[in-house]
Amino acid sequence: MDKFIIKGPCKIKGDVLISGSKNAALPILASTLLFDKPVEIKNLPQVKDISTMISLLKSLNLKVIENKKNKSLKIIKSKRVKTVAPYSLVKTMRASILVLGPLLSKYKKATTSMPGGCLIGARPVGLHLNTLKKLGMKYNIRNGYINAHVKNNLIGADIKISKISVGTTENAILASCLAKGKTVLRNCAIEPEIKDLTNFLNKAGANIKWTGKRTVKIIGVESLKSISYSVMGDRIETGTMAIAAALTNGNLKIKGFNPKLINTELEILKKIGAKIINGKNEFTIYGPKQVKNIKNLNTKEYPGFPTDLQAQFMTLLCKANGRSIITENIFENRFMHVSELQRLGAKIFIKNNKAIIEGNSHLEGAELMSSDLRASVALVLAAMSAKGKSIIQRVYHLDRGYEKLEKKLKKIGVNIKRLT
Ligand code: EPZ
Repeated sequence: MDKFIIKGPCKIKGDVLISGSKNAALPILASTLLFDKPVEIKNLPQVKDISTMISLLKSLNLKVIENKKNKSLKIIKSKRVKTVAPYSLVKTMRASILVLGPLLSKYKKATTSMPGGCLIGARPVGLHLNTLKKLGMKYNIRNGYINAHVKNNLIGADIKISKISVGTTENAILASCLAKGKTVLRNCAIEPEIKDLTNFLNKAGANIKWTGKRTVKIIGVESLKSISYSVMGDRIETGTMAIAAALTNGNLKIKGFNPKLINTELEILKKIGAKIINGKNEFTIYGPKQVKNIKNLNTKEYPGFPTDLQAQFMTLLCKANGRSIITENIFENRFMHVSELQRLGAKIFIKNNKAIIEGNSHLEGAELMSSDLRASVALVLAAMSAKGKSIIQRVYHLDRGYEKLEKKLKKIGVNIKRLT
């Protein structure tokens, strides 16, 4: 298993180009099951989760022609599409559940393994199933598989999703595209990645309109047309790179992402003392000499402070000149990074879903263990700002969602190397 060796402290300086968004690409790739004609997807990040989704689509008999050089692929429906998503693939990536909606909508049946839980929480799929049921899905769960089918077609319905959920919103939108009649989905998640998905589908001839802050109306269509589409930049990679600059009193130009989509995060970075100059599809951030603390930070659904940046901000607040409190409201177990940060000398205490960060930590290099994708990158941030050498084990967690991370970091001043 690969590990990272990082020697700190460093000062981030230069430019970085943000890769395509993993969390926009996954539902867009799943949606290619709705098409009869070839679809080209561009700006795909070369990360493990994307190759897992590609393997899943291939296992369903879609033909995938990859062009790694220009990070794009073409998906062609050739032979008869299979409708069984195997456990071997689904267990490695929860987002595999996103094939359920399109398979039902297009092929009227689907069998997908129940996605396993993961380190950050139980990650149930009850919301997905209840919502799809309201569109006409019938299902049972046996031997760890969801066996779903629909009599003739999914039928449009007016549905209030009981809890804001990214994956449920995406699955319901995918299921409604080819359903009969009108679907209205209320209480939707509205992450930019979901808007990227609906932009993609509308470009292919779907009929999807956002009629309210969290309400979307979908009129079912007969079929979708052949298109080529470039996936948006990665919002969480952008936030992570901005925090790296803030943490190391650095200055960094971040290209390939519209700063307006991360206004909440950038406002918080200004509160800790960073200076930010916005461009059209880029921005420059200057880190403060002294990081200021933040009394209370609460993770919320978009456009609130994202849970996927909680660990990275915690690392930043270890350097603040006073106490900060982070409350994790989305997942039940997303403090796996805390014990590892403590090994570097961070003073953090957990009380239920609150983490109290004392600040003024002088971090010293140590051996560290990655756990989930975002906790792992928080350790990379801590190691680059700590004094001395750190070794981070199991970087395969990072390879799931960060493209060429060590290459990008080396280029902007981090002393990092991968040991295979
Ligand atoms: C998406 O996961 C993201 N993954 C996650 O990013 C992100 O942390 C999460 O949204 C929240 O923003 C992808 O987009 C591939 P949810 P998802 O359904 O869709 C509960 C990363 O690092 N829930 O919005 O699984 C759930 O347990 C990943 O890239 C139910 O109870 O998240 C959680 O507490 C990590 N029942 C809350 O809702 C359900 O049926 C939000 O989950 C579904 C979800």
